[in-house]
Amino acid sequence: ARVEFLDYDVLTDHGWSLADDDLFEKAAESGLDGDAYGEVFVEPRTNLLKAAEDAGHSWPFACRGGACANCAVAVVEGDVKMPSNHILSEEMLEQGVRLSCISLPVTDDLQVVYNIEHLPGLDELRL
Ligand code: FES
Repeated sequence: ARVEFLDYDVLTDHGWSLADDDLFEKAAESGLDGDAYGEVFVEPRTNLLKAAEDAGHSWPFACRGGACANCAVAVVEGDVKMPSNHILSEEMLEQGVRLSCISLPVTDDLQVVYNIEHLPGLDELRL
């Protein structure tokens, strides 16, 4: 799967929102550095976090086992599956929040915002 990614800090800096329809178009035109915006390819049975790391990126994480939410991302386009979820609320799941350490792509193309630790509601989940 091809995953286009964006750092949540960029949204904060530019006053953009996860709900912006043209979020990734704006990002593509903003001359961002390769850590903040770009794409990675995820091999089958590989989770998003691992794929990002294999491509040389440092995304936040702690437990790598779906228990801490430090690795949370917002899936804006496409979908992933998680084998289990014990910490994300229904509301977060509806917003597209997923745990990158256990998320496997199920669509060929995805758009993902990583580093969403300051998204409302996530702070108290992080251990
Ligand atoms: Fe802890 Fe992913 S690193 S849930």
